[in-house]
Amino acid sequence: MDRQKHVDRASREGKADSAAGRTAEHRTVPADKPQSGTAGAGEVRPTRWWKVASTWAAADQQIKAAGIGAQTVGAGQPASVPAAQAAQDAEALAEAAAVLAAGGTVAFPTETVYGLGADARNTKAVEAIFAAKGRPSDNPLIVHIASMSQLEGLVTEVNETARKLMEAFWPGPLTLVLPAAPGAVSPRVTAGLDTVGVRMPAHDVALRLIAAAGCPVAGPSANRSGRPSPTLASHVGEDLSGRIDGIVDGGPTGVGLESTVVEAGRDGTVTVLRPGGITAEQIARVTGAGVKLDAALREAGGGADSPAPRAPGMKYTHYAPQGVMRIVSGAADRVAARIQAELAAASARGEKTGVLAFDERLPSYRADCSLSLGSETELAAAAHRLYAALRRFDECGVTYILAESCPEEGLGAAVMNRLLKAAGHRVIDAGE
Ligand code: TXA
Ligand code: MG
Repeated sequence: MDRQKHVDRASREGKADSAAGRTAEHRTVPADKPQSGTAGAGEVRPTRWWKVASTWAAADQQIKAAGIGAQTVGAGQPASVPAAQAAQDAEALAEAAAVLAAGGTVAFPTETVYGLGADARNTKAVEAIFAAKGRPSDNPLIVHIASMSQLEGLVTEVNETARKLMEAFWPGPLTLVLPAAPGAVSPRVTAGLDTVGVRMPAHDVALRLIAAAGCPVAGPSANRSGRPSPTLASHVGEDLSGRIDGIVDGGPTGVGLESTVVEAGRDGTVTVLRPGGITAEQIARVTGAGVKLDAALREAGGGADSPAPRAPGMKYTHYAPQGVMRIVSGAADRVAARIQAELAAASARGEKTGVLAFDERLPSYRADCSLSLGSETELAAAAHRLYAALRRFDECGVTYILAESCPEEGLGAAVMNRLLKAAGHRVIDAGE
């Protein structure tokens, strides 16, 4: 069934049922069957859907904010929501927050990607996240907070550089790895590390949900491990329906790639452990010092003798589409010629072809599935579209995919990091 109709029907049924004074169970949308034979599958549970309107004007605004300037992240215009809708949303968020507070797992929108939330203090709830995602237990979770007062108690120290970054970028797509206060969150959240990754998302639905739940919310991306992070509630449904307690559908996310994960040293140095929505250039402008890249990120290929990444999640192969994917880099005209030739050769040997390219050259490619990264002058669009495109290639059943590269500057660093992972670091050099 079409997902939008599915959700609309769910919310209509929800209204009718609450008017009839029925219990929450009657409002539960029947869960899709989880895929069988997948490792670490949790128990089958009915997944509730709540559709809410974000009071921020448009995801577009958040993308632009993330792409443009540090100070404007999350500064979309509050939109006016009709009173009846606002009341319904408040009720939906209160219900979802109650599920979180009671130890349930609820997916929710953020300005980056959808997260899968649980009370970070509750080990059983956190274990349900790992089970639902099939996530390796040595990969720590980010803790989401809605206010600075929630930070107290979670960490033992916030140095001056970390403080500056919070002031500049929170709420927003930046995760700070900080010394954890012993016992503040379940040891499963930190995966045995003495640090905890914390962020305050720039999304009104996420902030309201966390505040109403009244607890720090552990939240990895709401995808099955190894799948692209979800940028729509329907992506969450595809991966996790029947495995989690609820999904708050707040529409498309903004940035489209995950937050930047950093460590801020006492000496003022900042190390990027995962590139993301806040760029190294933005960070450097705030700290007035250079930004280091974790050694593991500098080593292309991530081979056996590469250094271990300091963000444990970075060592896993992520986001690989089912088809073989290659990235073509080099001068624009050479890239175009090479992609055209590779696509023709692949078709001739019977491959179902896919191409992921910028609008400047996309019309010159002939593939079974052609997907746009937007204009190469606006990388925020590429970030916003990338994960949905990777999912689309799988839906189309393409067996051979070629993607254009982009310069690793600004948001391009995060886009290329995710593209390289998706392609298993297979790059064709078309020449300069
Ligand atoms: O934008 C985001 O960050 C999204 C949304 C939902 O907030 N969340 C997200 O979470 O991407 P996840 O679990 O998919 O990725 C978290 C990354 C992993 O690479 C993990 O290893 C790293 O952050 N991380 C978490 N805590 C850490 C810690 N204490 N030290 C080093 N790395 C940490
Ligand atoms: Mg993830």
